Amino acid sequence: MSLAAFLAELDELQSAGQRALDEAQDAAALEAARVEFLGAKSGRLKALQKQLGAVPPSDKPAAGKRFNELKQALDAALEGARQRVESQRAAAVDTTFDPSLPGNTRPLGRLHPLTQTIQELQEIMGRLGFSVADGPEVEDEFHNFEALNIPAAHPARDPLENFYLSTAGKVVGGPYLLRSQTSTVQIRVMEQTRPPVRVISLGRVYRPDTADATHYPMFHQIEGLLVDRRVTMADLKSVLRLFAQSYFGGDVHIRFRPSFFPFTEPSVEVDMTWHQGWIEMGGAGMVDPHVLAAVGYDPDEYTGFAFGLGVERVCARRHGVADIRDFYRNDVRFLRQF
Ligand code: DAH
Repeated sequence: MSLAAFLAELDELQSAGQRALDEAQDAAALEAARVEFLGAKSGRLKALQKQLGAVPPSDKPAAGKRFNELKQALDAALEGARQRVESQRAAAVDTTFDPSLPGNTRPLGRLHPLTQTIQELQEIMGRLGFSVADGPEVEDEFHNFEALNIPAAHPARDPLENFYLSTAGKVVGGPYLLRSQTSTVQIRVMEQTRPPVRVISLGRVYRPDTADATHYPMFHQIEGLLVDRRVTMADLKSVLRLFAQSYFGGDVHIRFRPSFFPFTEPSVEVDMTWHQGWIEMGGAGMVDPHVLAAVGYDPDEYTGFAFGLGVERVCARRHGVADIRDFYRNDVRFLRQF
């Protein structure tokens, strides 16, 4: 074999080997190219080395020198390709993932503090044997006033003290108003059930008050009603004390102050003290015999007690909320604390 022919084959091998190594995209392709060109047993470089013996002796030094250059070039190309494939593999792994970082927590909503309070009050009263009753927020005058012994001339019925709906004359059974008290549910329950009765009702009531730290035109009440034979004022006080102690904890005290409500006789204001200061929580009393009679209960056979407390008040008292408007601002910085 002439030197020229040998060198031609050598050049051909160099460019083919270089191309194969450059084009290898992963470790397997790279290994295949290495075996094909640089394989120790049957690689193409090995085959060319054998042909070196057929080159005329005078040309051997030149041929041998080129052969060594070729081998070094392919070794270097192999090494370069290895590094390239390895760094491509490393780059494909997501280096932005840091397992030591805290995870992304999904913000989790929670129940409004008043909803939490309502659920807790229902649960406490449930343990005392009271079931939950419901009534409409749009009421007629019979349930909001008359059946509760609030006659037509009573100041509580003043249109300026209530949210009357402008449906008068247009809808049967009216006029209607947004209920001003949950005592309406007492009537609705007694109309439908025979004694004994032991219910609570929790819900919204509406009064055209100017909003301030202790008033809001819409707020919530918890109403309680127990009617049975031989129910006394002592039962009322026991239930309210147990209720207060369950909600606030053991060191709460309650007291009654004489008061007046048309639907109870006698009537009291209920105050509670917890840690410091007395706070008025609502009203209570023995159900007036007229109210029992209005729903067809025999007042000589049955007596009962009723109470109505402000849900915002008990919740605000327990959590130290100074302004009940905070319950309605929907400021998550406030709501998140509950
Ligand atoms: N309904 C009264 C109010 O809104 C509160 C109340 C007082 C409810 C005495 C009662 C009760 O059941 O017996 O001011």
